[in-house]
Amino acid sequence: MNDIWTRLASCRAAQEDLRISDLFDANPARAEVFCTSADGLVFDWSKTTIDDTARDLLLDLAEAAGVEARRDAMFSGARINETENRAVLHTALRNLSGSVTLDGQDVMPKVRETFDRMAAFAGALRDGSYAGQGGKITDVVNIGIGGSDLGPYMAALALAPYHDGPRTHFVSNVDGADIADTLRGLNPETTLVIVASKTFTTIETMTNARTARDWMAGSVTDPAAQFVALSSAVDKTSEFGIDSSRVFGFEDWVGGRYSVWGPIGLSVMLAVGADDFSDFLAGGAAMDAHFRQAPLAQSLPVLLALTGIWHHQVCGYPTRAVLPYDNRLLRLPAYLQQLEMESNGKRVAMDGSDLEIDSGPVVWGEPGTNGQHAFYQLIHQGTTPVPCEFILAARGHEPELEHHHILLAANCLAQSEALMRGRDLEEARKLMAAKGLTGAELDRQARHRVFPGNRPSTTLLIPQLTPFALGQIIALYEHRVFVEGVILGLNSYDQWGVELGKELALQVEPLLSGGMGDDHDPSTRHLARLFRELRYQ
Ligand code: F6P
Repeated sequence: MNDIWTRLASCRAAQEDLRISDLFDANPARAEVFCTSADGLVFDWSKTTIDDTARDLLLDLAEAAGVEARRDAMFSGARINETENRAVLHTALRNLSGSVTLDGQDVMPKVRETFDRMAAFAGALRDGSYAGQGGKITDVVNIGIGGSDLGPYMAALALAPYHDGPRTHFVSNVDGADIADTLRGLNPETTLVIVASKTFTTIETMTNARTARDWMAGSVTDPAAQFVALSSAVDKTSEFGIDSSRVFGFEDWVGGRYSVWGPIGLSVMLAVGADDFSDFLAGGAAMDAHFRQAPLAQSLPVLLALTGIWHHQVCGYPTRAVLPYDNRLLRLPAYLQQLEMESNGKRVAMDGSDLEIDSGPVVWGEPGTNGQHAFYQLIHQGTTPVPCEFILAARGHEPELEHHHILLAANCLAQSEALMRGRDLEEARKLMAAKGLTGAELDRQARHRVFPGNRPSTTLLIPQLTPFALGQIIALYEHRVFVEGVILGLNSYDQWGVELGKELALQVEPLLSGGMGDDHDPSTRHLARLFRELRYQ
């Protein structure tokens, strides 16, 4: 592998004067060759500096890293999460007709049974046969954080056109403002509260859950009857007082940030119904099948991963932007931030040695066209290139607003074109001359109007943001993260990096109410003292 990394570095170094547009000049078929489709999804990676040599080396890298063997190990239930000694089988949640054996036991009967119970509960709640004290449930509040929030929240927003169930709300932050703002205006007698927590110990979620229970108890005689729990820690859910008939469990082989496909997705199922939720699962399963069957060079997850590796590890671009031209994918960048940064933001390889290569980049983004009026300035003219990952649906859901959709799409395509093409000094000078400027002032003004161009982007084109397509997109990114993790040689499925802050928060808490806290550093003690003074003055 070291040899391939070295050759990739040389390949990049040899590109010093290369412009992406040169690659199109050299290969008139580049737009088609560097554009790969699967089951209706189209991934265009032509507007990058990946040339034939780089592509071949990147594919060699995937092969040398053993991506295919590791992929097969994951799907077969091997314990590839080696630091937690766990299998990684969230894919089983979306392949209900499949069969997966773990430690000699078929895991699917339980998965199917839980799905059927969820569907039955969703049907009962949606038709009113399960009701609150005040009648049919009008509002569902999902309390969770991280993977127990980002996935269902992202999916509920994305599937708004399919939403024909109760209103859904999402509370995650321990900041009381979150739950206060959410519960204000809701009727406890017709509200269902979902406590979504794999561990059922997460302090934010449990604090919010208790607050919601107190709120409910103010008006409802049996508040626990309007609570549902989604968790791997079924024993803890009964301690909280939730009846087992409304507890939907899942196994430790479903990672938090990979959990939207099962019980953690219940709020989505309540919103759109079990059939549309099944279509979402089918989209994920279709991507799984593609990932398992397509050769590396035709595999969308592999190509997306290799593009990421090229931009971050080879070119050294520190971040990547996810730019969905779809307002309903508002929370997708935040969702992918957790998926990618919690999975691949590591500094130690699977074997415990220091990583010899940079791990994951910073992932961020915002839907277009809004971002264009905010941070695109930096993307076009800042000093550090930001590889952009555009996402666009060919059709919207509002036929009467088709002109909006065309304008949206035109902006998306225009941005990737502008990023690649840029505008040189000569062109900028002509613009300034046309405005009547001359001499030094013309030069000065023209320089501000130069776009360096040659900035890479990819575009994922989908037919329409249906439940099926959403499932494909999410599974595509999951597998992209997996492939990148395998190539980097790290474990994408643990998250030890979140622990220290959690532990210290428990120790800092007494400091804020006047405790001594000699164990803390002078700055933290000083801030705590100032906090108390400001609070009680
Ligand atoms: O703190 C990180 C984390 O463990 C995430 O990985 C997870 O998605 C989130 O917290 C919530 O955890 P839980 O579902 O156990 O409440």
